[in-house]
Amino acid sequence: MNRTVVITGTASGFGRESVQKFAGEGWNVVATVRKDTDLDVHKGLENVRTLLLDVNDEEADTAFADQALAQFGRVDALVNNAGYYQMGPIEASTSDQIHRQFQTNVFGLMALTKAFVPHFRKQRSGVIINLSSISADQGYPYTSVYAASKAAVAAFSEGLNIELASFGVSVKAIFPGLHATPIFEKIDNATDIPEDYLAAMDSFFNSPQSSLGSPPSVTAEVIFRAATDNRPERVRYYSGPDGEMIPRAKTLLGPEWYWEEFRTANISGPSPLWAALSPNAGGEQVEQSR
Ligand SMILES: NC(=O)c1ccc[n+]([C@@H]2O[C@H](COP(=O)([O-])OP(=O)(O)OC[C@H]3O[C@@H](n4cnc5c(N)ncnc54)[C@H](OP(=O)(O)O)[C@@H]3O)[C@@H](O)[C@H]2O)c1
Repeated sequence: MNRTVVITGTASGFGRESVQKFAGEGWNVVATVRKDTDLDVHKGLENVRTLLLDVNDEEADTAFADQALAQFGRVDALVNNAGYYQMGPIEASTSDQIHRQFQTNVFGLMALTKAFVPHFRKQRSGVIINLSSISADQGYPYTSVYAASKAAVAAFSEGLNIELASFGVSVKAIFPGLHATPIFEKIDNATDIPEDYLAAMDSFFNSPQSSLGSPPSVTAEVIFRAATDNRPERVRYYSGPDGEMIPRAKTLLGPEWYWEEFRTANISGPSPLWAALSPNAGGEQVEQSR
């Protein structure tokens, strides 16, 4: 019997690529979008059903899980992909912006996971894949709220991996590096940024490296691998050259030296050692809304 995956946030980026990847590999796919106008985004793909879901609407999750199960009779994997990017120094980010960032990237993800866990537990199988980020491993400046939300996703995934192990359910987190997706055209920007920050922000965001990213298909491949590699003990999957470099460089330098090099690179520019260790993110132009 074909396996079935539920993927959230599939109108663009990793979600859309993942729908194509899983469908191409013979899986049934329940894909979610949040706008009526995106319901036909996967038109022409076989065994893909597209449903509406806003992950902020936690009260809809139980009914959505039942609806997703009814599409193909079972669900084998859940990919919590929906998310967005809040940007700006903390003092210029409003409380509302901070809460909304956590609502979508963390609380919405937890609530949807909660709606599917009873099903996976009773079935004695299932894979839950959560989209974290390399920001979770090493907080970048001016996006520290986003980084904190993704660190929460990483820790949540590790805890659940152990909590659900005896039920045959595995939980994984994906740590993508920079990818050229529409997320950067929809940034929730802080406004009224004090002038003191502007020069440093400009140099951070306008470095040549910050404008190039990997294509989203790179991470869709990693998501698929995480769903199919039968390695329930493995939680962390890095994607893109800038993502894959992190565990290697951390092993090489140890966590403290790694952090010092990363911090210096982001304050005053990379040391020759850091420059030698850091590959470019990828070859695609990242379109930014800032
Ligand atoms: N691109 C990167 O460099 C990068 C790196 C690390 C991690 N990530 C993470 O990867 C995931 C996918 O991002 P992406 O780069 O593929 O961006 P994307 O193309 O913007 O895709 C994100 C998807 O999530 C959806 N979404 C946002 N808020 C939602 C909500 N409340 N309910 C339901 N769907 C919602 C968006 O819907 P709309 O189309 O309606 O906006 C969109 O389809 C995100 O969690 C992101 O944080 C991205």
